[in-house]
Amino acid sequence: MILSLISILLLSTLSQSEEDCSSDGICICSLSHCSSPLLLPTERDLNPGHALLYSTSIDGDRLAKTSLTVQSRSSKWTKSPSESLVVLRLSLDTTEYHQSIIGFGGAITDAAAINIESLPYELREELMQSYFGPNGIGYNIVRIPIASCDFSTREYSYVEKEGDFQLESFTLAPEDKQKIRWTKRAKDLVERDGHTLKVFGSPWSAPAWMKTNGHMKGGGNLKNGSQYTKSYAQYLIRFIEEYTSEGIPIWGLTIQNEPSTGTDADYRFQTMYMSPQMEASFVRDYLKPALLSSLNGKNISLMIHDDFRANLPEWPDITLSQPEVESLIDGIGVHWYGDRFVDPNKLSLTKERHPRQFILATEACVTDTAGVSLGNFTRAMWYAQDIVEDLTHSVSGWVDWNIALDPQGGPNWVNNFVDSPIIVNKEKKEFYKQPMFYALGHFSRFIRPGALVISHSIQSTPGISVVAVKNVDKTIAIVLINGMDTQVTVDIRDKSSSISAPIKAQSINTIIYRSAMKQ
Ligand SMILES: *[C@@H]1O[C@H](CO)[C@@H](O)[C@H](O)[C@H]1NC(C)=O
Ligand SMILES: *[C@@H]1O[C@H](CO)[C@@H](O)[C@H](O)[C@H]1NC(C)=O
Ligand SMILES: *[C@@H]1O[C@H](CO)[C@@H](O)[C@H](O)[C@H]1NC(C)=O
Repeated sequence: MILSLISILLLSTLSQSEEDCSSDGICICSLSHCSSPLLLPTERDLNPGHALLYSTSIDGDRLAKTSLTVQSRSSKWTKSPSESLVVLRLSLDTTEYHQSIIGFGGAITDAAAINIESLPYELREELMQSYFGPNGIGYNIVRIPIASCDFSTREYSYVEKEGDFQLESFTLAPEDKQKIRWTKRAKDLVERDGHTLKVFGSPWSAPAWMKTNGHMKGGGNLKNGSQYTKSYAQYLIRFIEEYTSEGIPIWGLTIQNEPSTGTDADYRFQTMYMSPQMEASFVRDYLKPALLSSLNGKNISLMIHDDFRANLPEWPDITLSQPEVESLIDGIGVHWYGDRFVDPNKLSLTKERHPRQFILATEACVTDTAGVSLGNFTRAMWYAQDIVEDLTHSVSGWVDWNIALDPQGGPNWVNNFVDSPIIVNKEKKEFYKQPMFYALGHFSRFIRPGALVISHSIQSTPGISVVAVKNVDKTIAIVLINGMDTQVTVDIRDKSSSISAPIKAQSINTIIYRSAMKQ
């Protein structure tokens, strides 16, 4: 009580640009206050001659906003103001474009929806605003598991009655009502922010009775015989129709979540094996024809793979080389697990071989030690580094896993606890915005849908990673990570301007400005 009184007093004396995130790295939202408002750029902030620097650092900044000056470009690089500062030179080529951005988001799993609903009304709203609201971090994508996955409290499908090929007993679960409620709220907020919410579904497993192993978990695949395959295609379409009729149009579908895990007979939770050839024939012979004759599935973006980077480019190579399949597939989903040990050039190579398909990062969470590590800055740096690596290797967006978990990292019916950018503490009626939340915000708030990734060059410096984009509104956004323990100054230039930006040790930064160059 005394503590919260003090924080209210503190809050009223803090200027808006200051943070009141606690010293252990988390920003607390309770019924009495919610720390760390995001100060969006105003029109004046981006007038010619002005730039903004947003910084999140190990020493406590959370998207802290600073004004910078844009100089018209002089012929010489500025000199280092002091010997102790490292000066990095970053050159942008605002005429060389790469892939366009679809966006950023997270998954509204059963677990996420259960956690959101465990909060008092005002805090549920605050949590949704944090991700999707006009003053939030600008998410525009939501992923929805189709029926149950490990982040459910039980194993269930939408058709439990064995042999019901006509899907007469199809019913959404009570968990779907919760997922629908929060996805609808996300949709309203994103639309208020002037964008469209892109929702995509991912199945973990067909109903147990349609599978060779008779369970949703463990190794197995769809039973042979067209009645199973046809019925399963209709099952996915029913998901699309039911969600659409609840007010949530579906933008995309991944064919199968992590299909490669379905070879493991003892896999602990819901999965289903589909080889690259099986994905191809399922789409060509069953799913696409069924979508084309459905009410709301005609224009769905179909994504294959939805699996580990390590399997690139071979897995999509096989699927997309099957007869008549290439033109039916819109995207290739990739999960981040193991990324630190796998060459990111596998992504660019995949894109080179399949230029018509976008690559979307469809799932990520920290799993290396079980569960939540409150306030952990290392995890924020991992997220940011992975996003930069992906965006500089042909990936068009990045979708996180559960948008909210409990302090243990669940609920999860097989105790596969992991971390999340927002942790909900229902006993204390609070939620915590973790460093990972701010790491994501550095991208999702400033790199908007339709942005084009642009080329840059930087003196090779281990510990510094950069991605630069040009937004549809012609602003340039640069995300720069300093993984070093020293502060640096970065001199940024494009053809017409130069900006000098002070970059803290161990920090994630976004620099945004409107290039003076004639467009
Ligand atoms: C199922 O079909 C696959 C491929 O068509 C075949 O290799 C396999 O032997 C079949 N299995 C059974 C049990 O009929
Ligand atoms: C189909 O989807 C694409 C991309 O999402 C969009 O540009 C197009 O307008 C859509 N067409 C229809 C008929 O909805
Ligand atoms: C922070 O997370 C990293 C990566 O998961 C882990 O190695 C480290 O032990 C964590 N730090 C703390 C203080 O728990």
